Amino acid sequence: MHKSETYWARAEGSIFSLVQLYQEGSGNHVKGNYPRFIQRGSHGHIWDVDGNEYVDYDMGLGPIILGYCYEAVNQAVMDQLQLGTHFSLVSPGEVEYAELVIENIPCAEKVRFLKTGSSATEAAVRIARAYTGRSHIIRGEYHGWHEWTIAGEGYRQGGIISEARQYIHMCRYNDLSSFEKLFHQHKGEIAAVIIEPLIIQKPKNDFLKNLLDLCHAEGALLIFDEVVTGFRFHLGGAQKYLGITPDLATFGKAAANGLPLSFVTGKKEIMDAVDKDVYLFTTFGGERLSLAAGIAVINELKNRDVNDRIWSLGGRLKKETNALTERLGLDISLEGSHPRLMFNFKGSNDQYRRQMKNTFMQECIKRGVFLGWTIFPCYTHTDADIDLTMNVFEDAMKVCKQYKDSVRAWGG
Ligand SMILES: Cc1ncc(COP(=O)(O)O)c(C=O)c1O
Repeated sequence: MHKSETYWARAEGSIFSLVQLYQEGSGNHVKGNYPRFIQRGSHGHIWDVDGNEYVDYDMGLGPIILGYCYEAVNQAVMDQLQLGTHFSLVSPGEVEYAELVIENIPCAEKVRFLKTGSSATEAAVRIARAYTGRSHIIRGEYHGWHEWTIAGEGYRQGGIISEARQYIHMCRYNDLSSFEKLFHQHKGEIAAVIIEPLIIQKPKNDFLKNLLDLCHAEGALLIFDEVVTGFRFHLGGAQKYLGITPDLATFGKAAANGLPLSFVTGKKEIMDAVDKDVYLFTTFGGERLSLAAGIAVINELKNRDVNDRIWSLGGRLKKETNALTERLGLDISLEGSHPRLMFNFKGSNDQYRRQMKNTFMQECIKRGVFLGWTIFPCYTHTDADIDLTMNVFEDAMKVCKQYKDSVRAWGG
């Protein structure tokens, strides 16, 4: 990790907060064991700046749905590169992409292109506030770095205006009564509920359908934040997979297999009603390399078994990992839906859980498997990648078992 650590020392002198992605913060990595800088990627593999190769499951925090350097996407980008990257008038690619979105995503009747997940969720909330004439928002988990999201968090509150907090309310997934309570407390004031259609838990007792009905009964909109689930669960998003159509939805991450493309989309009636009122304009909104990549991604999803493959790879990882931890008697499980899995390190106290997680991740990285917050299978992970991963998981879990046994022996 010599080069990684050298670059890290240089970054400390030059880059604000060091990393672009919060989850990549140095606190989450075991110093000296984890690479800090990646040089390149191909299919489901990455190489760090010291030349070490890994099977990657972090996939740029979700965007890499097809694999790194995926041929059809690279070709589309290179073709567009010859023609120019960015102009001041609308490109035919914008119309083509918008039509593909409308054809495939259930709630999509109008589309606005943006660059990041945060700008898409910000736009959706702006549209909802303009449409309803209300200010309050009920939100689920993370939706971006803007004020109304971070105001609801308990960390990094620097620069957040405290008044922003009164307009933002947090609710728990699958707990309809917590939403009902807020609608009651803020009668006629809630503009929208914005939530991810699913994270780890699946909807229970018709939660999403009941939430949609509740929002409409209260004159509010339901926004699905599909920045992570979009394209990954299904070409039509998790809304298509779950069969629930929200009023508005936001997509990002996987939209262009790693190029910056996001969008807000939704019902024509809502978007048309506010078209003359809201300001959603940005210089790079129609930037052409990302749109070319986005068109290539949708075409790959339409014409190949990308989603089936992702579901099946994740299914194998989940089934075999959980059988392994059960066999070893470890309180660790791989949870969530197959396209988006997360480890749950259980145990009686925080320090034990954190130590278990660090041990596991460190033993995996030593053996060539790179894990992050979430496990994202991609289309070009191979069966051999999964075989290797399961061998590595087995070795790493055995080290975790030794740690567990040693804690027990010391009466911990
Ligand atoms: C569900 C969800 N929404 C929105 C965002 C913000 O996206 P971005 O980081 O591209 O601004 C994220 C980022 O991880 C996310 O997970």
